[in-house]
Amino acid sequence: MVDGEIDYILIDEKTLQKRVKELAQKITADYPDEESELVVIGILKGSVYFFADLTRQIERPLKVEFIAVSSYGNSSCSSGEVRLVKDTDETIRGKDVIIVEDIIDTGATLKYLAALLKARSPRSVKVCALLDKPARRQVAVSADYTGFEVPDKFIVGYGLDYAQKYRNLPYVAVLKNG
Ligand code: IMP
Ligand code: MG
Repeated sequence: MVDGEIDYILIDEKTLQKRVKELAQKITADYPDEESELVVIGILKGSVYFFADLTRQIERPLKVEFIAVSSYGNSSCSSGEVRLVKDTDETIRGKDVIIVEDIIDTGATLKYLAALLKARSPRSVKVCALLDKPARRQVAVSADYTGFEVPDKFIVGYGLDYAQKYRNLPYVAVLKNG
């Protein structure tokens, strides 16, 4: 099923799943001490499918948490001002944290979240982003783990939305006129 507003499939399901597995393997290898407390924090709602697939393939103990943020302004044109809507349930002090994002666009969300979480004295903070759209960057931030670099188009699917639609597509696609 390709919706009428979808232009073309950018990353198919098989390619996505292969890359997610590779990222999970890297993370497993980078956190070998199973005694350390690893907290993987998904940013709602865009990261949920990626987050679920990724965490299930990280082969070590971890805890899952979720944060929700909202950027002022409308959905396709962010003002760069970010507001915390839902925080983690447990403290991250002294723990190893991985932030899981759907896409890094201007970088404003990630800059805000990294600063917020680092101020809480975790042992470490890393970022894992499924997609990176470097052409649009306004703030100098980058991910420690990146799935795919994408062109300057509006992307939907596998968690990413346009007006809350298309999140459940199993692939990543470019929206028409996006
Ligand atoms: P940033 O703060 O500009 O980096 O934007 C990050 C957030 O904007 C992401 O978590 C997405 O929710 C949203 N976003 C940015 N680009 C796209 C896109 O191409 N499609 C869907 N959502 C996007
Ligand atoms: Mg969104």
